[in-house]
Amino acid sequence: MRKIILTGGSDGLGQAFGEICAQEKIDVVCLSRQAPQYAAHHIQTNLLREDSILQAVDQIKAHHACFDALIHCAGVYSAQSPSTLSYSEVERVMKVNLIAPLLLTGQLFDLIKENGADILNVGSTVGTKAYEDQCAYGASKWALRGVSQNWQLELKKTKCRVIQFNPGGFKSDLVKKYDSQNVDLSAYMDPQDLARFMLHILQLPKSMEISEVLINRKD
Ligand SMILES: NC(=O)c1ccc[n+]([C@@H]2O[C@H](COP(=O)([O-])OP(=O)(O)OC[C@H]3O[C@@H](n4cnc5c(N)ncnc54)[C@H](OP(=O)(O)O)[C@@H]3O)[C@@H](O)[C@H]2O)c1
Repeated sequence: MRKIILTGGSDGLGQAFGEICAQEKIDVVCLSRQAPQYAAHHIQTNLLREDSILQAVDQIKAHHACFDALIHCAGVYSAQSPSTLSYSEVERVMKVNLIAPLLLTGQLFDLIKENGADILNVGSTVGTKAYEDQCAYGASKWALRGVSQNWQLELKKTKCRVIQFNPGGFKSDLVKKYDSQNVDLSAYMDPQDLARFMLHILQLPKSMEISEVLINRKD
């Protein structure tokens, strides 16, 4: 692994992953609104906006065309009961968690094939079972698993691997950003442990595709 394109590398799991890559001398190209604090190329990107995603694609093609992996780690959370869920809330969640990975990958698909690059989608255990008040967030994560299966089929005859990475709760500010309820994170996983595992999966021989991984939190 020499160069990785990473969405959401400015905070939480993406930041932990980017920091580990920087230590390992792997070049990271981070797509996010805020710049990451570790050494990385930063393409300022708002994944809520089509024009911003397309501008990021242009910059990747112009300056970082030779990459080994594309990681979709950016994500937003939503906690609303089915009866209070608004159109704009569903749109916000679907745009960042689902449409952005679809568009970004689609626009880079030829390059991904040419590079034999891997794709890693960060989903969630919420994409494998139901949680109360998480129908929009859950729908986006369930859908992303379907996308991974599609790309695995599309890329079957190439060197590219598609990894669907579904962690349970880990310590980050994700929930705090979108929900006023105080969640006790003390028993949650350490994002650094997950980030190290992500990199390990990517560094396995190309003959091994970890198609999907489910990491449940254990008290
Ligand atoms: N935390 C958990 O317990 C948990 C559990 C399972 C799965 N996950 C998933 O793991 C991934 C990372 O979550 P996290 O907890 O590390 O979240 P986080 O700490 O809130 O970080 C989210 C990242 O996504 C980026 N992002 C959000 N909206 C964006 C936008 N409109 N445009 C560009 N970038 C945007 C943020 O960058 P900027 O703000 O700089 O734009 C930030 O780098 C997400 O996909 C999440 O669904 C989280």
